[in-house]
Amino acid sequence: MLKPHILQLSSYPDWDQTALDATYTCHHLPLSAPDLIEAIATSGGAGVPSEIIKACPNLKLIAIYGVGYDNIDLSLCAERHIQITNTPDVLTGDCADLAVGMMLAIARQIPSADHHARSGAWTRTSFPLQRRVWGAKAGILGMGRIGQELATRLTGFGIDIAYAARSEKPLPYKYIPDPIALAAHADFLFVTAAATPETRHIVNAATLKALGPDGYLINISRAANVDESALLDALESHQIAGAALDVFDAEPHINPRFAPLPNALLQPHHASATHATRRAMGQLMRDNLAAHFANRPLLTPVL
Ligand code: 8YV
Repeated sequence: MLKPHILQLSSYPDWDQTALDATYTCHHLPLSAPDLIEAIATSGGAGVPSEIIKACPNLKLIAIYGVGYDNIDLSLCAERHIQITNTPDVLTGDCADLAVGMMLAIARQIPSADHHARSGAWTRTSFPLQRRVWGAKAGILGMGRIGQELATRLTGFGIDIAYAARSEKPLPYKYIPDPIALAAHADFLFVTAAATPETRHIVNAATLKALGPDGYLINISRAANVDESALLDALESHQIAGAALDVFDAEPHINPRFAPLPNALLQPHHASATHATRRAMGQLMRDNLAAHFANRPLLTPVL
């Protein structure tokens, strides 16, 4: 039987690649298309350039290895009857875990404390006192699956939770729909919202000013949700206490202004990157492909 053809835009762990190769004829972008390859690499793991969509007249399905589907032109796909699937739920817990880890790491300065112990500086001086986390106030911008899982974890720290979302949800947390008011309320402002044109730079100079000199920003969503140059200004001028970031505008290239800042914790967009979760993401992506080619309903359609 002829294997269906798929165009693969990223590389996968062996366990996925072997399974894909067994069932499909996998095509890869030629290295002669460096601009497209760069566009995909800098799209936060969720991009399919429209040139590719337009260049594939028989394209029927885009199966995303991730939950985000920003950087895909949804109306272009709808026009061409192209369906889209993603991998929600299986990565929710890992993203919430990393957000909590980033909060603790930035507030307690865990990376610098490691350096202090490891370098021998501890023999000369005590590590400076840091910020208490438990009992603080958190603002969660975007109360979807990841925001809710994060809130559940934060309640274990006795943290008071407020959130902003498109509408109020039947949840036992304060609803503060205005992002600036949420930032003013919070000690830790978490961004977990999916990136859309409406959420672009939802964290901007005004939000950061409201967060204030004792407030921390933690972004595990998409860089586009934060005005990165306003954030750099706020960090450099100590207008906020700090920021912990898993996503960046030009990732994997990080603005060099971040490098010298001790009040920034930088992570390489790895919120979903555990063995167990990546296996589950790969399986779900392949289950969606299998459903499509068997004319069965898609498991997790976006469109
Ligand atoms: C990436 C993510 O998909 O789920 C998302 O939207 O950003 C990540 O899980 C992953 O890094 C693979 O590119």
